[in-house]
Amino acid sequence: MATRVKWLGHAALWIETGSHKILIDPFLTGNPKAAAKPEELDPDYILISHGHGDHVGDAIAIAQRTGATVVSNYEISEWLTSKGVAKAHGMQHGGGFSFPFGRLKLTLAFHGSVLPDGSNGGNPCGFLLSLNDGVTIYDAADTGLFGDMKLIGEAGIDLAIVPIGDNYTMGPDDSLRAVKLIEPKSVMPIHYNTFDLIKQDEHAWAERVRKETKAKPVVLNPGESVEVVHG
Ligand code: NI
Ligand code: MN
Repeated sequence: MATRVKWLGHAALWIETGSHKILIDPFLTGNPKAAAKPEELDPDYILISHGHGDHVGDAIAIAQRTGATVVSNYEISEWLTSKGVAKAHGMQHGGGFSFPFGRLKLTLAFHGSVLPDGSNGGNPCGFLLSLNDGVTIYDAADTGLFGDMKLIGEAGIDLAIVPIGDNYTMGPDDSLRAVKLIEPKSVMPIHYNTFDLIKQDEHAWAERVRKETKAKPVVLNPGESVEVVHG
């Protein structure tokens, strides 16, 4: 089975790959653009990029109901355990681990990470996913631009997922600079239009990606998905 990536709105993503279902940054309750209800989802893995409420979202409730393993940085994984999540897998930046769906490496991200109750959420991260079918996905998550995106791109990225909302993360201009550093085959924007503060014209952005970079823009509406192939 091919790998499919569905945008659930904001930074929430649903990845189906082989027999596995991976949910990333499941902010659904309270998300005006949410394309799924937490009780509809049955992931076997949940990935959390940092401690902010618009990323931790419904992770605890979904993990408790489904028994999914939640993967995040060490501080967030300890916090999840203290909140009653049975299977929390802590990692740190630069570290990789081979899961049943493929290899996951935590990448740098420049952002904050305090948890909803004020606990220390460690440092924020992005995700480099090298899936079993050969597909490589880089979810930059919430971050500003940084030059080491070039190093991450050396993995050969089939799909890069980048924030374009501005204010809290990269905006359109810096996301284009990121695409030039990462050199992915395709690039998908997230973390925009959820709130007025991060309003962007995603179609104007896509036009610029086409003109100014070698990547193919993939603009989805919340609830839509794209098939990702390696090649
Ligand atoms: Ni954030
Ligand atoms: Mn965010």
